[in-house]
Amino acid sequence: MEKLTVLSHPLLAQKLSILRDERTPAWQFRRTLTEVAQLMAWPVFAHLKLESATIRTPLEEMQGAVFADPAPAIVSILRAGNGMADAFSTILPEAGIGHLGMERDHDTHLPRAYYHKLPPQISQRQVVLVDPMLATGGSAIMAANYLRDQGVRDMVFACLVAAPEGVAALQKAEPDMPIMTAALDRELNKNSYILPGLGDAGDRIYNTQ
Ligand code: PRP
Ligand code: URA
Repeated sequence: MEKLTVLSHPLLAQKLSILRDERTPAWQFRRTLTEVAQLMAWPVFAHLKLESATIRTPLEEMQGAVFADPAPAIVSILRAGNGMADAFSTILPEAGIGHLGMERDHDTHLPRAYYHKLPPQISQRQVVLVDPMLATGGSAIMAANYLRDQGVRDMVFACLVAAPEGVAALQKAEPDMPIMTAALDRELNKNSYILPGLGDAGDRIYNTQ
């Protein structure tokens, strides 16, 4: 699991407890998810690569650091990924934003892709792929495969809660892709939900069932 980073910080731990608590209402879940993602942005974006460019300050020229053109992309796995993508994009407003619609079948637990929309020149961009939950890994692997097919070379995956089964599957499919998570939980249950987890992230964000 050498490409796995489990982020550790008192604020992350305290806010994750709010997300895990079944009594947390949707409005507070959304707000806390935003806060957690903003905290995660710092270590996740540490993977971003910069170029050197000449900058003219009011006093003299210097070599500064800028993003390559085109800028990195944040790609959200719908629906739940949007909570993280919105928060990340407030920290990285230059980013292109992409959406990949994936939905797990309730019986087979396999993902079904229903939507793709990516920023232009995606193959030239570094990609930060986001989804709060990494359970079996099926959705993240399908998303990563699609991005590879579009020519993406440099990618990092960020989630809030990961199961060991999902980490193993994603690492097998994408051995070089860093995985950043705020929590590595115990296991999956028989319905492929993460234990202890936080339930269905999309339902908790959008107050659906
Ligand atoms: C959830 C979650 C991930 C996926 C994780 O989405 O947001 O995308 O399940 O499970 P996996 O690792 O086993 O693929 P879901 O399919 O429930 O869709 P939703 O976000 O629209 O609710
Ligand atoms: N999707 C979720 O939202 N939660 C889980 O625990 C598993 C898949």
